[in-house]
Amino acid sequence: MPVYNPESIISSRHLKSSSPMSNILIVYSTTDGHTKKICSHLKSIIEREDNQVTLMSVEDENKIDLNMFDKVVLGASIRYGKHSPEVYSFIKKYSPALDARPNAFFSVNLVARKEDRNTPETNPYLKKFLKEISWRPKNVYVFAGKLDYKLYNFWDRMIIRMIMMITKGPTDPEAEVEYTNWKQVEEFGQLVCKM
Ligand SMILES: Cc1cc2nc3c(=O)[nH]c(=O)nc-3n(C[C@H](O)[C@H](O)[C@H](O)COP(=O)(O)O)c2cc1C
Repeated sequence: MPVYNPESIISSRHLKSSSPMSNILIVYSTTDGHTKKICSHLKSIIEREDNQVTLMSVEDENKIDLNMFDKVVLGASIRYGKHSPEVYSFIKKYSPALDARPNAFFSVNLVARKEDRNTPETNPYLKKFLKEISWRPKNVYVFAGKLDYKLYNFWDRMIIRMIMMITKGPTDPEAEVEYTNWKQVEEFGQLVCKM
C-alpha cells in the first residue's frame, strides 16, 4: 500500500522546476564569426532562464534532427546583399519543421547600424529576404554587425571602404567597429524564452 511521504512530493516538485523549460536550437550562418558571437550571447541569455540550448552552424544541419527541439532560431549575416545559399537551402528543407514550432529569424548586416534601417520594417535586406522565401518566421529581428577591415581580403576591403565612404562610415583600413546593440540582443533573448 503506498505510503504518504511529503518529502517525496517536495523532491519531485523540485525535480520538475530544475528540468529545462525548453529545448532550443540556434542555427547560425556566419563568414567572419560575428553572427556566431551574437548566437553564443543569445545562448547564455536563454540558458539563464533554465532552457537547454544547442548552437549549430547551418553547414552542420544534416547532423541534427530538428524535430527534437521545442523552438528554433536561425541567424544569418549579409554578404554583398544576400544571406548565404545554405540559409536558403536550410529554410527550403526545414520549413514544415520550422512552422510546427515557435521560431525566429534574425539578420546581421552593416546597413542596420543606421537608425532608419535597423528594424524588420526598415532594413532593406530583411524586407527583400522575406519576400524571397516561403517560410514566414514567427519572430523577426535585425542586428547591426561588425566592421573589421583587417579580416578582409584586398578586394573586399576596397569594396567595403567604398561603400563606407558613400554611406559616411569609417574608411580607416585599420578600423574595427562593433555596431551590435547588445541590449537589443538581450531583448531578443527574452522574446525567444517567451515565444
Ligand atoms: C565581403 C563583405 C560583404 C558585405 N556585404 C554587406 C552588404 O552588402 N550589406 C551590409 O549591410 N553589410 C555587408 N557586410 C557586413 C557584414 O554583414 C557584417 O560585417 C556582419 O557583421 C558579418 O557577420 P559574420 O561575421 O557573421 O559573417 C559585408 C561584409 C563583408 C566582409
